[in-house]
Amino acid sequence: MQKLVIEGGTPLFGEIITQGAKNAVLPVLAACVLCEGKVMLRNCPCISDRYASARILSALGAKVTAEGNSLAADCSDLSSDDISSSLMKTMRSSIIFMGALLGRTGKCTLCYPGGCNLGPRPIDMHISAMRKMGAVISDEYGVISCTAPEGLKGCRHSLSFPSVGATENIMLAAVTAEGETVISNAAREPEICCLGDFLRACGAKISGDGGGRIAIEGVKKLTPPPEPFEIIPDRIAAATYISCAACAGGELLIRDCAPAHLEAVIPVFEQMGCRLRVFGSNIYIYKKGRLKAADTIRTMVYPGFPTDAQAILMAPLCTAEGTTVFVENIFENRYRHADALCRMGADIRAEGKVAVVTGVPHLYGTVTEAPDLRGGAALVCAALGAMGTTEISGISYIDRGYEEIEQVLSSAGAKISRMTEEKQ
Ligand code: UD1
Repeated sequence: MQKLVIEGGTPLFGEIITQGAKNAVLPVLAACVLCEGKVMLRNCPCISDRYASARILSALGAKVTAEGNSLAADCSDLSSDDISSSLMKTMRSSIIFMGALLGRTGKCTLCYPGGCNLGPRPIDMHISAMRKMGAVISDEYGVISCTAPEGLKGCRHSLSFPSVGATENIMLAAVTAEGETVISNAAREPEICCLGDFLRACGAKISGDGGGRIAIEGVKKLTPPPEPFEIIPDRIAAATYISCAACAGGELLIRDCAPAHLEAVIPVFEQMGCRLRVFGSNIYIYKKGRLKAADTIRTMVYPGFPTDAQAILMAPLCTAEGTTVFVENIFENRYRHADALCRMGADIRAEGKVAVVTGVPHLYGTVTEAPDLRGGAALVCAALGAMGTTEISGISYIDRGYEEIEQVLSSAGAKISRMTEEKQ
């Protein structure tokens, strides 16, 4: 059992280099299944979800090697199309292997994916899209068996909601399907464009990614790009480190973070009274004195305010002057961090989609537990600005998405360490 121990109240100074994006590397790793040959990737974050994806690839028969942030995956010879339930349960993203495996082998067996508990997270859109492309899918006691004996066929999909995962799964299934696939009301997140860029580099014919209508013309096969493919920066990790500075005060330069992907987030920090400057691909943040409340924050699909940044921005707003209202529109149960923040002294009333945060002068260190990935990150932010020491357990959630968070923050002067304790 590991925990983070954070002594609050020390301002942060220095530079942080943004890690590669978790939500971009995972679909790109699934896409490797479609490539016959050795794919080389750069800027892969060293996080546990990436290791879980690499374990899935290895279990399918791929040869995966990695050195730091570089990774090579050779899927020339796959020996299995079956993903065990223990691997599927490690994360939500395991479900996008469905489209990739159906595209490559015409069959797969898997089960319902795991991931953070953010309320019900159905996969109905994924399954109905694969069926529409000709897959025969059965679900017996949670084991999902898929076959496409005659191969997948391109078709038109009109998504009832622009789901990120469903858009990725359809893209993966469609790139080697017969004929044209069109996805209307597709997700527009930057990670979709990263997947599109990777698939194009492998020879896929895709257009329109980043907009609401993606068109894909199936090709016979994909081949690895000649050059290593670079994963985009993690916009949520960048927002997290900005939030750390907003909580603790100080001056940070967040390097290589694709500020254009943070256009909905930067103005909220500015409203709070933080000074932010964008220099090319870097963001400078300076914070001194007490923060101010922000206008109502409504989570939306991209380019709206990201649900993944909701918990992270709630942390600094707990000590801002005034009241901020959050409306969570994407997930049903995404305020599990509110209780933990209240135990640190915050005043948060959360009910249904709405959370009302009334700023208090200070938060106080306590013993607490990460409720999920971004909720855990919010506790780290809050602890950096709190009076006294905070101990956060359940940090395997945080390790799913943040590369060595304690080292990154220590390098900026934070008093944070990782401790291992015996299981009780
Ligand atoms: C991805 C991100 C996650 C982010 C989320 C929303 C990854 C690995 N994860 O998750 O960090 O919080 O986008 O930006 O990229 N839905 C259905 N049926 C489906 C699929 C989704 O009802 O078949 C619903 C979900 O329950 C949710 C909404 O659609 O309410 C959005 O989910 P989706 O965009 O699919 O999120 P994920 O791809 O799971």
